[in-house]
Amino acid sequence: MRKIIWMSDPHFQHSGTYKGHDPRVLLERAIEHVNTHHADADFAILSGDLMGDELEQDYADLALYLSKSKVPIHSMMGNHDDRALLRIHLSVPTSAMGDFVQYTIEGADETIICLDTNKENALSGAMCQTRLNWLSDTLARTADKPAYIFMHHPPLALHLPPFDDSNLEDSDAFFDVISAHNNVKHLFMGHVHRATTGTIKGIPFASMNALSFQSPPPRPKWDWDSFNPAREAPQYGVLHIQADCVVLQYTQFCEFGVGYTG
Ligand SMILES: [Fe+2]
Repeated sequence: MRKIIWMSDPHFQHSGTYKGHDPRVLLERAIEHVNTHHADADFAILSGDLMGDELEQDYADLALYLSKSKVPIHSMMGNHDDRALLRIHLSVPTSAMGDFVQYTIEGADETIICLDTNKENALSGAMCQTRLNWLSDTLARTADKPAYIFMHHPPLALHLPPFDDSNLEDSDAFFDVISAHNNVKHLFMGHVHRATTGTIKGIPFASMNALSFQSPPPRPKWDWDSFNPAREAPQYGVLHIQADCVVLQYTQFCEFGVGYTG
């Protein structure tokens, strides 16, 4: 069995607050909670939007915070991230593509696939043909094992305006690749700062709360001009993956208000 910690969207910055929240306090609390209760996990995945503003000092300080984790953390690209700075300051598995932070973590019984859906200077995500070809080749090479895909941008609308306009572009091409193989068993997605779950084309998916601020529920309807983070506590996920069973536990690690300055 694999036990994986899933964290997303810390929006870290070395000083100041982001949308009223101190990302350093919240990340520290999350890592302390994992160290105390889940130090037996195999590894953690941080599914993108590591940064608020993609500053080099932010990446340098983030590396110091992540180094306090007893569980090794694998970092992914979100729309707020910079590939070059991520590679300089955070470790990337040797399986990663040369031009993209897209990689596998391969176990005896499963393949974890972490995609790079970053589209430069855009809120929405994209997967170019190069990344899609890598995904197709990876799924073919590991066809004898179930594959679990982590990706920052959801490849479907989650009925969470305005994120529905900033998901993965050309998701049809992504699903064409997935559908050509039969080993993808689950999708895990960041970006929306809110927990959802469901199925798409028969494949289960889940999105994760953020380590930083939480998106409000979809009603009353909001847009970025009227955006106010929900007064909800942050969470991370504890994933238990076995051959024929996936269990995701949404785990609150502190009360709402910790690190909140309004
Ligand atoms: Fe994002």
